[in-house]
Amino acid sequence: MSAILSMQAVRKEFKTHVALQNVTFQVKEGEIFGFLGPSGAGKTTTIKLLTGQLRATSGEVQVIGEREEGSIRRLSSRIGLLSDTSGLYERMSVFDNLALFADIHGVNRSEIPELLEKVGMAEHMKQEAKKLSRGMKQRLMLARSILHKPALLFLDEPTSSLDPGNTLEIHKLLRKLNKEGTTIFLTTHNMEEADKLCDRVAFLNAGEVVELGVPGELKLKYSDRSVKVVLDGIPEPIYIPSNAEGGSKLQDWMASGKVKAVHSMEPNLETIFLNLTGREL
Ligand SMILES: Nc1ncnc2c1ncn2[C@@H]1O[C@H](COP(=O)(O)OP(=O)(O)OP(=O)(O)O)[C@@H](O)[C@H]1O
Ligand SMILES: [Mg+2]
Repeated sequence: MSAILSMQAVRKEFKTHVALQNVTFQVKEGEIFGFLGPSGAGKTTTIKLLTGQLRATSGEVQVIGEREEGSIRRLSSRIGLLSDTSGLYERMSVFDNLALFADIHGVNRSEIPELLEKVGMAEHMKQEAKKLSRGMKQRLMLARSILHKPALLFLDEPTSSLDPGNTLEIHKLLRKLNKEGTTIFLTTHNMEEADKLCDRVAFLNAGEVVELGVPGELKLKYSDRSVKVVLDGIPEPIYIPSNAEGGSKLQDWMASGKVKAVHSMEPNLETIFLNLTGREL
């Protein structure tokens, strides 16, 4: 599949501060791509570059074939953005918040009820935005970002500060949108979210991409290949290397019927990130 967006050796400086350096990656059409990193790593800066709100100090940014920030900004009919700041009109109703955007994008207002149904907000249509809970506001912002059926959706920490129930609902919706053909670029510092949702992830640390790949493959790459064995009558698990010596031990235990459980020991994304950077998320 072809790249719907890419960055090549991108550097972004704010006065004396280097926010991004030598950032290179591609997002393929149809995938869910996760951009992971701790606070201050440069995630929001990256989204701003990819949506034409900022211009790179050097390097190349390409989004749906456009390379100049003015022309990237003009892609707004094909791009959806859920930013890290609300931007809702607090004193307007849920419906009116969406109607405003529908008019801007030339979408028929009659499509709004179905959209609200889709994000589980049908009953909140007439409610004032300022009276919505955090989770409901997030759903409304998501609804607004997909109102015009963009091919490419940018989500800046879509589930931060949401409870597990709301998070799950948003994940379901994102999977559905992706199945329907939307390419999704999301930032998060939630490694579990990235693991469950993303086809590929990039780890960003202090403005640099330190690793990139398919979650399952990264876990195998950084696995020490040891195996955890739980034996009958021994409360503590035993860790054995996956070599001839470990194999013969396991064979003996199995032959004598002592093995209660065997687990492979791949690290999770959190552990990999910690090992690569010495930093937690
Ligand atoms: N307009 C700006 N002027 C100066 N410095 C900035 C500006 N925007 C961002 N920065 C700096 O660039 C770095 C990256 O910021 P960015 O907002 O991209 O991080 P982030 O990964 O989105 O963090 P968070 O998880 O907290 O949202 C930070 O050190 C930040 O202070
Ligand atoms: Mg941010």
